[in-house]
Amino acid sequence: MSSQPRLIDCIVGARPNFVKIAPIMKALALRNNFSTRLIHTGQHYDVAMNEVFFADLRIPKPDLNLEVGSGTSTAQTAQVMLKLEPVMASRRPDLLLVVGDVNSTLAAALVAAKLGVPLAHVEAGLRSNDLTMPEEINRIVTDRLSNLLFTTERAGNENLIEEGVSPEKIFFVGNVMIDSMLASLERAEPAGGTLSELDPSNAIAADAANGFAFVTLHRPSNVDDPEKLAGLLKALSAISRDIPLVFPMHPRTKAVIQNAELGGLLQDSRVLVSPPLSYLRALGLMREAKFVITDSGGVQEETTALGVPCLTARENTERPITIDEGSNTLIGACPDAIIAAANDILCNGGKGGRIPALWDGKASERIADRIEAYLDARVATSRPLKEFSAAGNEA
Ligand code: UD1
Repeated sequence: MSSQPRLIDCIVGARPNFVKIAPIMKALALRNNFSTRLIHTGQHYDVAMNEVFFADLRIPKPDLNLEVGSGTSTAQTAQVMLKLEPVMASRRPDLLLVVGDVNSTLAAALVAAKLGVPLAHVEAGLRSNDLTMPEEINRIVTDRLSNLLFTTERAGNENLIEEGVSPEKIFFVGNVMIDSMLASLERAEPAGGTLSELDPSNAIAADAANGFAFVTLHRPSNVDDPEKLAGLLKALSAISRDIPLVFPMHPRTKAVIQNAELGGLLQDSRVLVSPPLSYLRALGLMREAKFVITDSGGVQEETTALGVPCLTARENTERPITIDEGSNTLIGACPDAIIAAANDILCNGGKGGRIPALWDGKASERIADRIEAYLDARVATSRPLKEFSAAGNEA
């Protein structure tokens, strides 16, 4: 076994990555045979999408920020590759770890593969089977290039095996996003405080004290087309007649609303729009919400773990366990269907569900164990080869 600590490069780029990397960094730091280098690509750069998460999740300051900023999916991917390659080439890590499915995940995976650096992918095997989602392309290519594939649910293992990945590379470890959530619940901010701060006039917050729903929408398929987004906003406005909604708005969504002048659709409604919220505030709101409307991947999982009914405004999900066992329901993005599903929860109560296997707060420890075993095995298998060539030289 090597006595030098092994260098693990960990890549983050966008908001959901921060939630996933936090417990993994902690688990790796608890072992003295690893050193880590946290590399932020800069895909998300707003303070509200970024620094607050590092503080809330107690993630160490990144060792490096590549500052790629915004751009098309292709431009972001290319920028990360160009900036990451020299970093990894000048100090070669023993392993590169990527999480999730954002553009930064794919870009880093490609660089590792081209440099011949072993690659671990956390949240492998999820498939929406919808190649129009940039995330689906990112997932498929990242998994194809990975040496260690860590899955959150058994469907992930099945997808990978169907795609021809050899089973010994795949490890069902549970869900690091839930590790983060369980570690943070105690510190999550009570909804009341957040609501009164977001709504100083108390026009909506006062009603919300009797119950509210929480909304996030940012998928390109829902928000990039102004007509589609207008339909969704009208649905939210209609639902808010029965229950106030809290809607922290993603910059992508906000930009379309501003450019297409859709803001009026929420005027005089009980939809409380806010900038993106910190992790501890969002968690506090989700925990106390009567239900959640979302198109986010992570929120589907968090609501399942919290047992809060979730309506997913998409035609598919790469996280089927949240439907089969959890509190999630796929309702599509048709405004009438969303209104009907919200009414149904208000009249009949929502779906409950149970906590999926291994969503127990210990996924990161399992990941650290597996990485250690993998790197030990690499050293063990490379030793006889070195010994053999040394003996050969002597002869
Ligand atoms: C990305 C991820 C998505 C994830 C989401 C969570 C990809 C393909 N998608 O989508 O999987 O669920 O993050 O937030 O990687 N912007 C800002 N400030 C920021 C970041 C972005 O204003 O801090 C703007 C950008 O200018 C851009 C838009 O928001 O126009 C979208 O950002 P981008 O990084 O392209 O993807 P997301 O929609 O955030």
